[in-house]
Amino acid sequence: MRKNLRAFFEQTFSCAPLFVARAPGRIEFVGNHTDYNGGQVLGAAINRHVWVALAPRRDGRRRLVSAAGGDVVTLPNGGEKKQRGEKSWANYPLGVLVALRAFGRRVPAGFDLAVMSDLPAGAGLSSSAALEVASALVFLAAVGEWDVPPEAVAEIARHAENNFVGVPCGLLDQAVSCLGRRGRLVLVDCAGPRFSTVPLPAGARFWIFNTHAKHALVEGLYAARHRECRSAARALGGPLLAAVTPAILAANRDKLSLLLFRRASHVVGEVARVNATITALQVGNLATAGKWLSASHRSSKRLFENSTTELDFLAARLARTPHVFGARLTGGGFGGAVLALASPKFSAAQARAVVAAYGNKFGTAPDVLRLRAAGGAALVRD
Ligand code: GLA
Repeated sequence: MRKNLRAFFEQTFSCAPLFVARAPGRIEFVGNHTDYNGGQVLGAAINRHVWVALAPRRDGRRRLVSAAGGDVVTLPNGGEKKQRGEKSWANYPLGVLVALRAFGRRVPAGFDLAVMSDLPAGAGLSSSAALEVASALVFLAAVGEWDVPPEAVAEIARHAENNFVGVPCGLLDQAVSCLGRRGRLVLVDCAGPRFSTVPLPAGARFWIFNTHAKHALVEGLYAARHRECRSAARALGGPLLAAVTPAILAANRDKLSLLLFRRASHVVGEVARVNATITALQVGNLATAGKWLSASHRSSKRLFENSTTELDFLAARLARTPHVFGARLTGGGFGGAVLALASPKFSAAQARAVVAAYGNKFGTAPDVLRLRAAGGAALVRD
């Protein structure tokens, strides 16, 4: 990938990049919509990445190009003008520039920047967060900042997403992309935030089934859930739902509409499922961890209503397939992918059978990815 990116950069800009960074996508293991509610969430960085290459320019121009296609985005006089339509991918790096300044950091005045990726976009694997994080690393390197802690890079990248791109996400995606560790899950406790890792038992395998089906209003729906959670928390007397225990929720049931009660029940339940999953993983019990993952999906389907018919089909079908411990939608929902936690005995033939059954029902085939828990984002030295 590095060689291809370099060749693409040289071909587009007729010069060599000076800085290259790569940032992994992530799976959300369990802890759905807990992050912006101040709760805990378990994720893993994956061995699929967004790569960003950069060469500084003296004339203040900014040019950005993506190997995924489209014209070069040129900002002749610098600046961070928000892009629309097929150029809107450039809002991720541009938003990072704005965020860096908001955090009191310098940014390169002019630059050429190229992006290449083997991480599918729109699959719920956080390609946007990976693009933000890799962009942040090359921008920081271009002003001589090589050692910014990964926790700080994550906050900068999230700021870009919240304030420039306009999605009110929590810290999960950016934190896991920055702090991933091979063979381990990243535990983000958004109350601090505090970060740690949990070892994955050796017999754990990740399979992703990407439906490509995506709700047209996905960002609006995410923001709507964010508002519903805030309203529920306010009605219960606190700023954030993660602080609400199941007992408090039950005792205050009459303060919430049915809809807000369902939303709150999902988040409160997810917080408990994260803790229960950690306990199961600590004793190497993947069967129990998998049950919590499947329970998380059912809660998404019934209470948070962020699933789709396609995701429900895959999650249910996978959960009853031999050698699968559990399955759930991964990420924001409203489309995207299902994660199956499986044993090493789960085979490609079994995955194909699931794809065939899906094809019979929906007339399309999900992409299947086998992934492993990988290290976090880094500058790549030649
Ligand atoms: C998206 C957001 C995250 C998180 C998940 C749901 O991935 O970007 O911050 O809220 O959805 O858990």
